[in-house]
Amino acid sequence: MTSDWGFTTKAVHGGKMADAHKSVAPPIYQTATFSYDTAEEGARLGQEIPPGYVYTRWANPTTRAFEEKMALLEGAEDALATASGMSAVSTAVLTAVQRGEHAIAPSAIYQATYQLFAEILPSYGIETTILGDTESASYERALRQNTKLLYIETPNNPLLGITDIPAVARLAGSHNALTIADSTFATPYNQNPIALGVDVVVHSATKYLGGHHDLTGGVLAGSSAFIKHAKRTLRIFGGTIDPFAAWLAMRGLITLALRVERQNQTALRLAEFLVAHPSVERVHYPGLRSHPGHEIARRQMRAFTGMLSFEVRGGYEPGVRALEALRIAKRATSLGGTTTLVSHPASLSSVHMPRDVREAAGITDGLIRVSVGIEDAEDLLEDFGQALTSA
Ligand SMILES: Cc1ncc(COP(=O)(O)O)c(C=O)c1O
Repeated sequence: MTSDWGFTTKAVHGGKMADAHKSVAPPIYQTATFSYDTAEEGARLGQEIPPGYVYTRWANPTTRAFEEKMALLEGAEDALATASGMSAVSTAVLTAVQRGEHAIAPSAIYQATYQLFAEILPSYGIETTILGDTESASYERALRQNTKLLYIETPNNPLLGITDIPAVARLAGSHNALTIADSTFATPYNQNPIALGVDVVVHSATKYLGGHHDLTGGVLAGSSAFIKHAKRTLRIFGGTIDPFAAWLAMRGLITLALRVERQNQTALRLAEFLVAHPSVERVHYPGLRSHPGHEIARRQMRAFTGMLSFEVRGGYEPGVRALEALRIAKRATSLGGTTTLVSHPASLSSVHMPRDVREAAGITDGLIRVSVGIEDAEDLLEDFGQALTSA
């Protein structure tokens, strides 16, 4: 293993567990518990996680291999796998901030993360400020004496807004606070927040990392000290990933670069196609020069993701008609996999938000979010073209 290897060589060869049979594919330790012979051995293994394994809620060799591969791809000292993306988000946040402290997050983030900051943390005695935008100046204005966490999601959900990662990380650093960045939309192939100054990066592995719509999982990566604390939080809250899901996520990482490269390219083509379409009011894609975050995205991302959203001219009714007329793209929540998925945030993922908050965040009635899959670009362009004739 060498740190000079390219991304895909690391993705293929990183985080391999030692296997007595020299199996090329990593084994799945589908077990809840591990036996020991003496009380002394049990006590010792309990102290040494990893490599000692006692109980899968504490640690598991298959899960550990996924964590090591992920740490390598994010350029982090260590990583911790979790049962879902929200388990990664909540574990990271609850490790970073305690009762009586203050955390800052923007409203334009994944709905359950918004609810965590808007409802759950305050009910635990943690003060929060929800920002109306993602400007670093807004984070700065919200800082308080007891601020311990600045939370970022970039690109964000569902408008692909871009936060200036180094600017927010610098702010946090000068205030003795931590930064957590949800980089799910970007993937470690397109963006490495830790190299940009962030303390902890979180992912829903359900999305691009797994990449095939067949697992639920999450992962956080950061310093060894943070991950050690986070492991304790996770062990107590119990959001452990199943070893088979960890194995699927690890297998997904092997082809991440190939899938994401194609998804990046097709998303750019689709965005350009939609910009030119008469039934489309606006396209949100950071790869377009017209996108307000384009310049920052160019600085901090290697490419612009396979996610985009667009507004169908005329609002709710035409938007829903176009959505329902798609033949290849599937109407489903979630993102980041091999199949193109579309969703209608106003009716689905943003109903938790009061209408005024939703509209202020730019989530209009005709907005359609697209997660571009790995299908042939020509077929997707034709599908969106035919669907928009129904709008
Ligand atoms: C940006 C982002 N973060 C976190 C999550 C939560 O992931 P999960 O559904 O795996 O809990 C999602 C889910 O869509 C997401 O889009």
